[in-house]
Amino acid sequence: MPNSGGTIVLLPGDGIGPEVAREARLVLEHLVPDVEIVEHPIGGAAIRATGSPLPAETLDACLASVAVLKAPVGDPEFDGKDVRPEQGLLGLRAALDAYANLRPAVQDDVDVLIVRELVGGLYFGASGVRDDGTAFDTCEYTPSQIERVVRRAFRFAQARSGRLTSVDKANVLETSRLWRRVVDSVAGDYPDVTVEHMLVDNAAMQLATNPEQFDVLVTENMFGDILSDLAAAVTGGLGLAPSASLSDGGPGIFEPVHGSAPDIAGRGIANPTAMLRSTALLLEHGLGLRGHAQRLASAIDAALLVAPTPDLGGKATTAQLGEAVRAQLVVDGASVPSYLA
Ligand code: NAD
Ligand code: IPM
Ligand code: MN
Repeated sequence: MPNSGGTIVLLPGDGIGPEVAREARLVLEHLVPDVEIVEHPIGGAAIRATGSPLPAETLDACLASVAVLKAPVGDPEFDGKDVRPEQGLLGLRAALDAYANLRPAVQDDVDVLIVRELVGGLYFGASGVRDDGTAFDTCEYTPSQIERVVRRAFRFAQARSGRLTSVDKANVLETSRLWRRVVDSVAGDYPDVTVEHMLVDNAAMQLATNPEQFDVLVTENMFGDILSDLAAAVTGGLGLAPSASLSDGGPGIFEPVHGSAPDIAGRGIANPTAMLRSTALLLEHGLGLRGHAQRLASAIDAALLVAPTPDLGGKATTAQLGEAVRAQLVVDGASVPSYLA
């Protein structure tokens, strides 16, 4: 249902973040001129401005928004520091309970949707350093934390080709054995979905060598982080890979899979596609504007053919690819986007 009455919070982030965020803003202003867009700092930029990677003003604006469009955070300046940009991102995901992270990877015969659990596991378990110097991170999952994301993945599988691969490390980890039991216990509610379990090391190998076999893949937080970079790499690269992080009813977070790319930041050559495809996911899942999302997706596909950035072997700048997308938007896109979840 269209939900375009509220405010979109744009978080420009760090590194190449502001460069790709600018293109997303221009596209939104073109496609949904009546929707208000407000910008707030997060990550390293927010630490510099306020001391906190997720200032209260930023969080409050996100909680009150209809959707959050977020560019990457992270800056080598904060390596080894106690207060880090990434803490802002993790805090935002937890505060919005954005537990279902959709990471579509599409190219040619490959069309895989990774559904990554985003607010549990190693990222959020007890961690620390003991007096003797030992460091520890703890992986914990409750059955209900697993069940809600797994059910979401089943529903996506139903709407797609009806195949679900659950990825775990059940030969070693207790949390993975629980994960598997939960998947098996809810599978009966989705008789039209074929389920398989795959160990994560094999899943990485299969994604690298035979990614066409997958439809929907569901996995816990850390495995999903790693496998989604791999899936991006086999479908054109990190510069193309978007994501949507959804809660139950509250605002979602829409952001690229990639990071702040400090190695190319400030040069105007970052590929804005992942950010713009995340904007398409926002239009669809955040605002309920599927037609707009499809138009944007088609425009991006067409623009990539005429203005590829250096990561794709081309010469276009970030701004030139963004401009090509906006130029394509005035030509009505007829093709159906492949990467909308
Ligand atoms: P990265 O994803 O930033 O970069 C990996 C490689 O991919 C680099 O060579 C980079 O130049 C290239 N790349 C990434 N995005 C690109 C784009 N749009 N166009 C062209 N090339 C692109 O990973 P990293 O270097 O390991 O991490 C850098 C920082 O980003 C770290 O601080 C990390 O914590 C952070 N990070 C943030 C997010 C996020 O905010 N969601 C995601 C991943 C990493
Ligand atoms: C991602 C990133 C984040 C993650 C980091 C920056 C906390 O790598 O969104 O994939 O690990 O989730
Ligand atoms: Mn990652």
